[in-house]
Amino acid sequence: MKIAFVGKGGSGKTTLSSLFIRHLAANEAHVVAVDADINQHLGAALGLDDQEAAALPAMGAHLPLIKEYLRGSNPRIASAGTMIKTTPPGEGSRLLRVRENNPIYEACARTVRLDDGEIRLMATGPFTESDLGVACYHSKVGAVELCLNHLVDGPDDYVVVDMTAGSDSFASGMFTRFDMTFLVAEPTRKGVSVYRQYKEYARDFGVALRVVGNKVQGKDDLEYLRSEVGDDLLITVGHSDWVRAMEKGRPDRFEQLEAENRMALQALQNAADDSYGQRDWERYTRQMVHFHLKNAESWGNEKTGADLAAQVDPSFVLDERFARDDAAQPV
Ligand SMILES: Nc1ncnc2c1ncn2[C@@H]1O[C@H](COP(=O)(O)OP(=O)(O)O)[C@@H](O)[C@H]1O
Ligand SMILES: [Mg+2]
Repeated sequence: MKIAFVGKGGSGKTTLSSLFIRHLAANEAHVVAVDADINQHLGAALGLDDQEAAALPAMGAHLPLIKEYLRGSNPRIASAGTMIKTTPPGEGSRLLRVRENNPIYEACARTVRLDDGEIRLMATGPFTESDLGVACYHSKVGAVELCLNHLVDGPDDYVVVDMTAGSDSFASGMFTRFDMTFLVAEPTRKGVSVYRQYKEYARDFGVALRVVGNKVQGKDDLEYLRSEVGDDLLITVGHSDWVRAMEKGRPDRFEQLEAENRMALQALQNAADDSYGQRDWERYTRQMVHFHLKNAESWGNEKTGADLAAQVDPSFVLDERFARDDAAQPV
């Protein structure tokens, strides 16, 4: 399943993403983590030192390889050059699985060892001014979106994306690619206003959105969040001394994390699991086509000089059966 952590800068997206990833690893899940936040800190939050974090490959720098691989032998996609971030898979495309080796992971993913197992980590690479706010052809987040749209994941596979709730993700449809979106909000007006904006976009697309209150202290904070976001409030997390110790470079083993925070992480996993159970692959495919046509018309056709609507394979539906290790590629 695919899970996003979104919210305002500083709310705790990266912190909660990293705790959730550690929790999944402790539960022996298969995890691909993706750092798509403006401030690339997920590697550090997962325990990489400065040098290791700086050495993470940038997905944005491997966009040609990503496109070439995913295109496979799809006859509707004439070249990697005509592939935009919303180009959907079709007959002949290569799909990605969480549990496999492939050239994209080889180029873009690194294995991170945690206390309780290991996960794969990918990162968009640092954002520049020109990456922000535009439906940009070179968008770093575009590399993530292409991968998500070509990913076939089963119930025990977790893709966790730490991302910014920017206009980039709304323009492209990125925000519809998740089985569960956790909006991290502090009990403040700003935190809640990001929630309202996200909810507005999400409503028309059936996006499963739950609020995770962070840095919640005491009854007043809790009541504030409850009154502002109602039933969308899934759980709250308080100040964590475990997190603070890690930030000082003195990490404890993950099993030392405060019991109430461990329970909160389990609640996140349960919510994500439930939501995956309701995934409608047909609707999922339809939405990706919807955003592709929208992007083709608004800038893609002009940019590539091709009719990108012709890339849509009308009979193709992403399907869980492609997720199994032994399953054949769609041909
Ligand atoms: N529950 C928490 N307990 C203690 N510190 C926290 C908690 N959540 C976030 N922080 C701290 O707040 C700061 C911002 O969090 P971060 O996860 O980097 O936010 P974001 O990714 O949303 O910008 C970091 O220094 C982080 O360690
Ligand atoms: Mg962050």
